[in-house]
Amino acid sequence: MRAMKNIVILISGRGSNMQSIVRAARSEQWPCRIAAVISNRADAQGLEFAAEHGIPTAVVASKAYPSREAFDAALQAEIDKFAPDLVVLAGFMRILTPPFVEHYAGRMLNIHPSLLPSFPGLATHRQALAAGVKVHGATVHFVTAELDHGPIVEQAVVPVLPDDDEHTLADRVLAQEHIIYPKAVRWFVEGRLRIDNGIVRVAADANPPV
Ligand code: GAR
Repeated sequence: MRAMKNIVILISGRGSNMQSIVRAARSEQWPCRIAAVISNRADAQGLEFAAEHGIPTAVVASKAYPSREAFDAALQAEIDKFAPDLVVLAGFMRILTPPFVEHYAGRMLNIHPSLLPSFPGLATHRQALAAGVKVHGATVHFVTAELDHGPIVEQAVVPVLPDDDEHTLADRVLAQEHIIYPKAVRWFVEGRLRIDNGIVRVAADANPPV
C-alpha cells in the first residue's frame, strides 16, 4: 500500500488548473489528499470551487506584507500547516524568493503557458504571436530559483493558426494544460518522477490499466 500524499495547491485567480487536478484526483482515486488550496488574493475565483468541494482554503494576502521575504515566510508557514509532500503552483502569479524555493526543492511543480525555455515571464501568448512561431504550448516543471526554469516534467504542443489572437491561442493552450498538469501531478503522487542531472525521468507505470 502506498502512503497517502498531501498536496497543497496555490492559486491567484480562476483556478481552472487546480480544478482539473482536483477532479482527476477524485475520479481516478489517486493515493493523495488535496490538503488545502491557498491563494495570495482573497478574491481568487478558485477558492469558491475548493470550498464547495470540501477542501480547506486559506488566503495569505500578498498586499499585507512589506516585502517579498515577509510574504514568502508567511506563505510557507501556512503551507506547512498542511504537511505537504507536494506543492502545486496553479496560476500562482508571484515571483518566489530563493529560500522559499529551496524549502520545497524537488516537491514543488509549476505550469507555464509556453514551451519552455521559450517565452518565460508574462504574456506568453503575445510573445509567441510576436515571434511568429508555428507551434506553442505549455510546460509542467519542477520549480527552481530561476523564474520559469527547472527540470521539465511534461509538455504539450499546439499549432499556432494564421487567424489566432492571444485569446484563441490561450484557449487552445489551456485545454492542453488541463490534460498535462493532472498527468504530471499523478506521476509525482505515484512516486514515478526522478530528477537525473536536471532531466526528469518518468518510471513506467507499475499498474498499467488493463
Ligand atoms: C494558466 O494558463 C497558467 O499556465 C498560467 O496562468 C493561467 C492560470 O489559469 N500561469 C502562469 O502564467 C505562471 N507564470 P488558471 O487559474 O485557470 O489555472
